[in-house]
Order: sequence, then C-alpha cells, then structure tokens
Amino acid sequence: MSDASQNSYDDVPYPSYPHPNTHPRHLEALAVLFGMEPPPSTACRVLELGCASGGNLIPVADESPDCQVLGIDLSSRQVEDGRATIAELGMPNIELRKADVCEIDDSWGKFDYIICFGVYSWVPPAVQDRIFDVCRRNLAPNGVASISYNTYPGWYLREGIRDLMRYHVDQISDPRQRIAQARAVLDFMVSVCDERQLHGQLLKHELKLIREVDESYLYHEHLEDYNQPTYFHEFIDRAAQHGLQYLSESNVSRMLMLDLPEKAREALREAPMIRREQYLDFLRNVGFRTTLLCHREIELDHELREHRMGRFHVQLSDRPDPGQTDLGSHEPVKFTVADRGLTVSLPLSKAAIVCLGRIWPEAIGVAELYDRALEMLEPASTADPQRSIEALHSLLASALAGNFLEIFVHPPRCVSTIADRPVASKLVRYQASRRMLITNRWHRIVKFNDVGRFVLQRLDGQHDRAALERDLHDALAKGVIVRKPGDEDAASDEPVPDMVDWALQTCASACLLVA
Ligand SMILES: C[S@@+](CC[C@H](N)C(=O)[O-])C[C@H]1O[C@@H](n2cnc3c(N)ncnc32)[C@H](O)[C@@H]1O
Repeated sequence: MSDASQNSYDDVPYPSYPHPNTHPRHLEALAVLFGMEPPPSTACRVLELGCASGGNLIPVADESPDCQVLGIDLSSRQVEDGRATIAELGMPNIELRKADVCEIDDSWGKFDYIICFGVYSWVPPAVQDRIFDVCRRNLAPNGVASISYNTYPGWYLREGIRDLMRYHVDQISDPRQRIAQARAVLDFMVSVCDERQLHGQLLKHELKLIREVDESYLYHEHLEDYNQPTYFHEFIDRAAQHGLQYLSESNVSRMLMLDLPEKAREALREAPMIRREQYLDFLRNVGFRTTLLCHREIELDHELREHRMGRFHVQLSDRPDPGQTDLGSHEPVKFTVADRGLTVSLPLSKAAIVCLGRIWPEAIGVAELYDRALEMLEPASTADPQRSIEALHSLLASALAGNFLEIFVHPPRCVSTIADRPVASKLVRYQASRRMLITNRWHRIVKFNDVGRFVLQRLDGQHDRAALERDLHDALAKGVIVRKPGDEDAASDEPVPDMVDWALQTCASACLLVA
C-alpha cells in the first residue's frame, strides 16, 4: 500500500479536471489510426487509476450510458466528493471506489480502456510497476491504456526549482504554510534573477510559469516527496518489461516532425520510432507526455496512412475563421484555426474547411464531408472522383499531423443548431447550478459568466426562449444575478433577449447542446 499519497490528497484535494486526450473516444480513434480494432468507446468498460473526485470520468459516464465506468483513488475525501455528485445525478453506470492501485487483481476483470493521468511520476517505483501490471493483466486483448508522466529533458530546469522550494520549506509541516512559503521563495527569486545572463532569463521564464499554477498543483507537483520524471525511452522499456508496447502519443502531431526544419526531418526520418521520438523530445525540450500502450502481441502499423482517414468522423480542433474564400480558384487561402494558420489551395479542400466551420462543433463522417464539399463546387473542378477523395484524405492527414484536426470513430454527441427548447446534459446543468467546472462534449472545460450559467441550468427541454427571457429578467430584477460592469462575455447593459441569445449561441458553439 502507498499511504504517502493518501493523506496529502485528503489534506489538499486536487481539482479534478477533464483531460480530453484521455477520453476513451480519443484512445479508440488513435488505436484505429495505427491499425487496431479496439472495443467501441460508446459501449465499453473503463477504469481510471487515481481518479480524484471523478472530474475526468463522470462526463464519460454521462455521455455514454452503455459504458461501465470505474474510478479508484486512495483519497477518501476526493472519492466521497465524486460520489456525492454521482448520487445527486443518479448515474447507474459509474462507481468511484476508495482503493489502492496495488489492490487490483484478476478478480476485478478486464477493462477496454485504462486511464492513469497525473499519477505515474508521483508514486514510488513499486507502485509504478503495479500500474503497468494492471495495464497488462486487467486490459482487454484489444484494449488501450493511457498513462501520463513527467519527462526529461523538459523537467531538468523545473527540477532545480522544485528542489529550491522543497529546501526552503523543509522545516515546515503545515500544508498551507508550505504552499505560502514556496510561493514566497519563488517571488523572491523572480525579483532577483539576473536577466543579463542566459541562465537568469531561463530561470525567470520557468519561475513565472510555476508561480501561476494553483496551490493544489503547486503542492502536489512541487512539494510532494515523489515526483520522478523519466525519459520517454526508459518509460517504453519499462512498459515492454510488463508485456506492453507503444501505441501512440496522445497528441499525434508530437510523433511527427512538421514543425521541424527539413534538415532535422531528413536526419531523423530513418531512425527507429522510439529513438526518433526520443530525439524529438530532446529537440523540443519535452517535459510531459501522455502515452498510449497496448498488448505487445498486437500488430501495429505506425505509418500515417492517408486512406485510413476515410474511417473517421472529423472536426477541426477549433472553429476556423474562413477569411476571404474563393472556392473556384486554386489560390492558397489561410484559415485561422486556434490562432494558427492552415493554408489550403485545392477548391475541394477549401470547401471542406468551410463546411467544417459551418457545422462546428459537430463532427462529420469523411464520406459525407466529401459529398457536402462537392456540392459547394462547380462540377468541372472535381472531374476525377478517386483523385478528389485522395486529395481530401491527404488534406485531413496533414491537418491531423499539424494538430489542426480531431478524429473520431464515435464522435461527441452535440448539436450546433439551437432548438425551440434547447437541451444541455443533466451533468452540465448540474455543474452550472453548483458553480462547478463545466465540461462540454469535447471533454473540455468551458468558462461561463453568471448569465451564461443561469441560462445553461434551464436548458432541460422545457424552457423556450420566452421562458428563458422571463426567468432571466426576474433574476436580474431580484438581484439574483448581478450584471457586473466589464462582465467578461455578455455586455453588461445589453437587453435581456440579447443576453439569452448570446448565452444560447455560446452554448451551441461550445459543444454544450445535446438536442
Ligand atoms: C495529481 S492527482 C491526479 C488526479 C486526476 N487523475 C487528475 O489528473 O485530475 C493524483 C491522484 O492519484 C491518487 N493516488 C496516488 N497514489 C495512488 C494509489 N497508489 N492508488 C490509487 N490512487 C492513488 C491521489 O490520491 C490523487 O488523487
């Protein structure tokens, strides 16, 4: 048993976030991309090790009632918090259990997806071995495990700062005082860093990043006894000793080299995959990874094959800003996606991006995307259907490699149009009403002000626009909601119908509407 972790998370609970790259839907898509046939993410058994209060797992269970979901954690306080939410929502397909990873044995059965986020680097080596053991013994034959961990070389500089903070608080036992004193020494260091030296510049940059994290993260990441980063290749070797092999990095673009100069690509192209990725980590100074593993017996194909894109539903990772788009010409057009430029020239490719923008945040099957894009073009521009389909697959593969695209075998269930009586999930309405973090169907956190939360709570399929306006009007009149000047998203003096409109539009584009 690993009691060291137990008390610290009871004392200072960890805010339990959704991690989009650990969602079974994401693991499923990457498994298919690299040649596996994993269990469907909509009807599977999921196990999360170190689930805290279920912030990652509860939305998975909420979206997929046919999934059986189990989370375990050592901290009874966090597990109880999560259980309270589950009980209030009456969710029959999820259980959170206070348990140690080391207790899991064959009697727990097999799971199709095993998630272990934010645990591996922070537990002693014996527990790390148990994590791999569970991923071998309790993973279904075609299942996928996802483990996150801190890595070198990115952690070298950070480790020095962690050592500084731990050294500074080594005589203090009270967690709050430890946090306060750790912050104080960071502030002091920032104020005296000599930025004329290269080391001073690097240190200041890193210190500032650490200063911005919340106190729970600071405590568990930097003040706990255990935080042992590892090199990627060492992690993979250790996984191999437990009968597991490397399937994928959770962010596929990190496995590829689109961001590097041609000289680097040339030098690394022929290197074996693990060595190549290790060199990439050195080049990019990577400090954190979320790695997908599967059983060593499975035959994988790590080539990014364009034709496989036809298996997926797709959507851009953010709503594209189309700019001026002349679909008829071959002139290059730069679309802005998540503040980066995606340049395309072929009319079909441009039409596909415009189409994805129109249906955002809904995903679409690639065959249907092809048909819709075709409808937007002159017949003459797509005379050769085979070549056009290949061109679309090629565009999508490059967009994936460039981190512009999400792929799904089973896409998130959300709608982009606003119904007469819109519906948000019961979980989201609950989160909005309790001022909790709101998790959308992309498994991402959505920030909302009071007006947005007020409207969101009422999206139960019973309230039409008139009812929403009436309720909001009353709440504002009674001072239940205070319109703060400079309120982030809704202008403070807007008329009520405009505010409702804004809230509904925001819900739709933030993937919060399910009907
Ligand atoms: C940094 S938190 C991460 C929580 C969550 N996975 C997330 O990413 O938001 C680590 C969690 O692992 C739990 N933990 C640590 N050692 C454990 C063990 N041996 N068995 C089960 N849970 C453990 C802690 O209680 C804590 O909740």
